[in-house]
Amino acid sequence: MEKVFSKILIIDFGSQYTQLIARKIREDGVYCEIYPFNSSIEKIKDFKPDAIILSGGPSSVYDKHAPFITEDVFNINVPFLGICYGMQVMAHLLSGEVKPAKNREYGYSKLRIIEESELFRGCEKSSLVWMSHGDIIIKPPSHFIVTSQTENCSIASFENSEKNLYGLQFHPEVAHTDYGLRILNNFLFNIAKVKKTWKLEDFIENKVRDIKNLTNGKKAICALSGGVDSTVAAVLANKAMGDKLRCIFVDNGLLRENEGKAVIKFYKENLKLNVKFVNAANLFLKALKGVKNPEKKRKIIGKLFMEIFEKEAKKIKDVDFLVQGTLYPDVIESVRVFGASSIIKSHHNVGGLPKKIRLKLIEPLRELFKDEVRVIGNNLGIPMEVINRQPFPGPGLAIRIMGDVDKNRLKTLRRADAIVTEEIKKAGLEDKIWQSFPVLIPVKTVGVMGDKRSYESLIALRAVGSSDGMTADFIKLDYDILRTISARVISEIKGVNRMVYDITSKPPSTIEWE
Ligand code: XMP
Repeated sequence: MEKVFSKILIIDFGSQYTQLIARKIREDGVYCEIYPFNSSIEKIKDFKPDAIILSGGPSSVYDKHAPFITEDVFNINVPFLGICYGMQVMAHLLSGEVKPAKNREYGYSKLRIIEESELFRGCEKSSLVWMSHGDIIIKPPSHFIVTSQTENCSIASFENSEKNLYGLQFHPEVAHTDYGLRILNNFLFNIAKVKKTWKLEDFIENKVRDIKNLTNGKKAICALSGGVDSTVAAVLANKAMGDKLRCIFVDNGLLRENEGKAVIKFYKENLKLNVKFVNAANLFLKALKGVKNPEKKRKIIGKLFMEIFEKEAKKIKDVDFLVQGTLYPDVIESVRVFGASSIIKSHHNVGGLPKKIRLKLIEPLRELFKDEVRVIGNNLGIPMEVINRQPFPGPGLAIRIMGDVDKNRLKTLRRADAIVTEEIKKAGLEDKIWQSFPVLIPVKTVGVMGDKRSYESLIALRAVGSSDGMTADFIKLDYDILRTISARVISEIKGVNRMVYDITSKPPSTIEWE
């Protein structure tokens, strides 16, 4: 009998590209999940994958704590593709030989295909590939043939096609590899013979039906933040539950100019959500009075938000469920091969609720990547300007005002933010930039305005490009745009006489200043 829904499993060894492989596969119409390397064989079998991909990773198979899977995994009778470290794990476990290379190979290499392979169907004999590895395989496992080479790597790919085991030393998932997508496609559709059964259009219909069945006329609550994730989650749940879904929007007074009112109007009028607006601006301002420390600010805001949400939630009687906009990257168990990392910032977002609130969770987006959520949002009729909105942090403007937060400083920063947003929009850059925003630095510098000396505050402009917020680089904004923004900020906002542009990347800096 033909299988109805194809699934690929990626076993993660800690590569920075693991999520990228998953996204590429889903873009190809095939459902894909990521499990950490130490998942049990039962868990892997339970997923019923049609094929398994072993990801790359930063380790060497000879490291003391190198991540491995058990050899038994190869007894699961599905096609395997090992990529980079994943290929080395395959070689090592199946009695091939891996050695440290003389030179670490990083960047472009010229690949030469030396044997015909189903994996390379439709690829030129010679093409560019992206390499990033320290070790190399010097002997393939027995019954494997070598199918390609590069100058520095005599085994750039190998296979045992009878057993459906394939390995690539280079990264097919990155755009730099000429035939990368074709190779992945060949593995999926010619070798694993999976079907394109992952369709986001079906997702909405299925999810709405699931939520309807699960909630069966009972009530749910949902905290809205104005961002795309909580909005899409609420609209999906609303389609299934109608007015049994009660949304709460807490205005913490740390939002951008006119944002609270505009967001609530949009939720009610355009999206027809049943939403309660809670104006808590004064409570937040009071709680933040005199607090300078960034981590303290974050903790105060997170805690107070939780208290207010809980209080409001209690006012709604007989609630059984909590709807949240959790995404797949928040769910994937992260693989830490270099030990635990330290907390840089304690994030506050509406995704942090369930620890305190004892309700059954509905997370309609927990299988989705951000780009898929955007497509779903668009299919649900949410306007593109909301879907492509730049991320805005939960603690809002409080972490963009260095030191004390007060009404006047918020007013100053809000005006600057409105000017920056307007000019970036005018330049057509709003959805091309990851984030662009001003930061208020209440340090005074001397200036001259008219014929008079001024001694006023400083504002910095931050504009960064990023694909996930984990790393970022400053945008090389056109000088004319910079000039217009700075001229407007200085002339239109009282108390500011200087503007600077933040030219640091992340790392070493972070995107937000606090
Ligand atoms: P950093 O400043 O850590 O920010 O480089 C990375 C990305 O995360 C956003 N950010 C937050 N988002 N709650 C959020 O929902 C938070 O507490 C928070 N802090 C930072 C930030 O805007 C950037 O996109």
